Amino acid sequence: MANPSIEIVNLSKVYGSFTAVSNLNLKIEGAKCVGFLGPNGAGKTTSLKMLTDLIRPSSGQASINGKNVHTDKRGALESVGTLIETPEIYPSLTPREALTMVAEIRGVPPSERKKKIEDVVEQVKMSEWLDKRTGKFSKGMKQRIDIASALLNDPTVLLLDEPSSGLDPRGMSEVRSIVKSLKSQQRLIFMSSHILSEVADVCDEVAMIDHGKLLVYDTLSNVTSKFSGDTNTVEVGLLKPLDPSLVASTVQTISGVVAAERMDDRNLRIKYKGGLDTQASILSDLLKRNVSVVSYRPAASALEDVYLNLIKETL
Ligand SMILES: Nc1ncnc2c1ncn2[C@@H]1O[C@H](COP(=O)(O)OP(=O)(O)O)[C@@H](O)[C@H]1O
Ligand SMILES: [Mg+2]
Repeated sequence: MANPSIEIVNLSKVYGSFTAVSNLNLKIEGAKCVGFLGPNGAGKTTSLKMLTDLIRPSSGQASINGKNVHTDKRGALESVGTLIETPEIYPSLTPREALTMVAEIRGVPPSERKKKIEDVVEQVKMSEWLDKRTGKFSKGMKQRIDIASALLNDPTVLLLDEPSSGLDPRGMSEVRSIVKSLKSQQRLIFMSSHILSEVADVCDEVAMIDHGKLLVYDTLSNVTSKFSGDTNTVEVGLLKPLDPSLVASTVQTISGVVAAERMDDRNLRIKYKGGLDTQASILSDLLKRNVSVVSYRPAASALEDVYLNLIKETL
């Protein structure tokens, strides 16, 4: 089977004098999860809608699996599952009933429908709710059924617009773990989010967008290292407040450490030169020096620096 792919060429959307998406170029290939990261209003939904021909671009074009979305919509979207402004399921319907309707519309052959529906509901871990009315479901449960619905046609490309948005923490975490499990099945997942930690947790690569412009597209680790120079950052949580003088005398003398900064009494940021080995040896040096570490979190914060810096630059 060919590699799943999304190709976006010079795609723009203009509303009057306002440019919502500006000359977007993006070529994504292979089975992986790519986070489409940007603050509210960045142009994520507009881009995803153009990618599925829900709205027409002002200029440019998009293809999915090599098929042009605008001139061969049916062909292009045949192998795509989407979660973009999905209307709410009628509350008196059960997932089985709602998904049967979708399966009919999508042309899943009648003889395969029952098994297919049970299979996709299993994938979103909702099997025990298959014949319960959706009216009483939590938002997270409804969202999982919507994801199941996107899976009915065995898509190789999944387009998810902020799949965990509006959910409570538990719902968010469930949806994230489902996205992670879908990733392992030879699919290309393109998922928008305004939450950096979510993208860092779920995705392999990140495409950052702001004010309609693509800022960067690369692997998470390349983005972090490319824009943070050759230093990395860890955030260290402490059991007891650490004397500021100790930060200079103890922490900054650890091999590999470039700078140590107190965020507050119980939190330090350590910038270091090197990779995971250095990160590990710094932790063991901290412990050797009797610093009581309760948490040690790398990368996400470095990526956050990159994100905030890039977004600041486009203001
Ligand atoms: N139909 C529309 N008419 C005018 N402006 C729009 C329309 N749809 C979106 N926009 C504007 O385009 C920008 C990008 O919106 P959107 O793609 O929804 O951002 P995101 O999904 O990243 O939050 C926003 O400033 C939004 O107000
Ligand atoms: Mg949006």
